[in-house]
Amino acid sequence: MPPDLEIIKRRKKEGIDIPLHKDVQAKTTSTYLEDIKFVHNALPELDYEEIDTSTTFLGHKFSAPIIIDSMTGGTPEATEINSRLGELAEKYGFGMGLGSQRAGLKSTDLADTYSIARKNAPNAFLIANIGGAQLAKGLSVDDTRKILEMIGANALVIHLNPLQELIQPEGEPKYRGVLQRISELVKSLDVPVMVKEVGAGISREVAIRLALVGVSAINVAGTGGTSWAGVEKLRAETQKDTVKIRLGELFWDWGIPTAASLIEVRQAVPQVPLIASGGLRNGLEVAKCIALGADMCGMAYPFLRKAAESKESLFEFARMITEELKSAMFLVGAKNIKDLKSSRYILTGYLADGSSSNR
Ligand SMILES: Cc1cc2nc3c(=O)[nH]c(=O)nc-3n(C[C@H](O)[C@H](O)[C@H](O)COP(=O)(O)O)c2cc1C
Repeated sequence: MPPDLEIIKRRKKEGIDIPLHKDVQAKTTSTYLEDIKFVHNALPELDYEEIDTSTTFLGHKFSAPIIIDSMTGGTPEATEINSRLGELAEKYGFGMGLGSQRAGLKSTDLADTYSIARKNAPNAFLIANIGGAQLAKGLSVDDTRKILEMIGANALVIHLNPLQELIQPEGEPKYRGVLQRISELVKSLDVPVMVKEVGAGISREVAIRLALVGVSAINVAGTGGTSWAGVEKLRAETQKDTVKIRLGELFWDWGIPTAASLIEVRQAVPQVPLIASGGLRNGLEVAKCIALGADMCGMAYPFLRKAAESKESLFEFARMITEELKSAMFLVGAKNIKDLKSSRYILTGYLADGSSSNR
């Protein structure tokens, strides 16, 4: 096996092992979702069984506004995880993102670590994934088509991870020309092209630039959950890269908290479909993001943890977040997702102070 393939596989394995076995969640910041308080409705005038969590996003029907956010592939350890996540997406009518798929272009064995998800989820909305940095380096439109075919993708998401590239020991913080390449893919591909961060959030200015090139949706993937500066700092420790270790510690919590990012992006691009992710950990937080203007909500780390435990605990977690979402809907009197979008909430703390620029 060529040495670069070995390096990629090892990096992908560490990309699962570190979030699973070390604490790389936000340390000194949060999503700010705790600063959003729903207004309780003592007269919901509906029965719990009537609540309908289904929704439509980019022309596809979902049984709940939930996406298993882009995670893994490219290492044999990912096969079982993607297999379980695929099964879950199919059974629960959730969407699912795969991890960055460039590795899958290098060998059919590695391609199988991604395509197992489609095998187990023939009808689910699956999202192919490539990095903005790879686009800037010249990943071709043809290669992108191969990545889509690898999983029979319903959409493509391009991840923007300048912070991660900066801290990663072998990272390539080269972002010149990325927007132009995104624009080219929007024009060339026949599936929706979305853009996401990986845990540092999207600002209103970036959202406007993305909207102007015609992206189909934006996933804000804000701060408050998994820290990729944290993951890469721990990888830098094993490589004794002192500069990266220091940068990783200093920028561990860098970024825009998920609620703040969502509020400002919703205001900046009212017509663009939005996914909220970054630190969402339960169905009440999903409900809050929908009320703030998200169309769908993504979770990564919680699904990874449960998938690594067992299929049973993964499915139990999915059942739990669905019940939590329904419970929040019941308590605000929202019979469906459309009602939830217009339910009333109060901003407190940082969000009320105007520290997020939502006014
Ligand atoms: C193990 C793991 C691997 C990830 N790999 C990718 C990736 O390959 N591509 C991507 O766009 N995002 C990736 N992410 C980022 C997530 O999609 C998400 O944006 C981020 O983790 C914040 O969500 P969370 O706090 O729920 O984990 C990964 C996250 C985790 C936990």
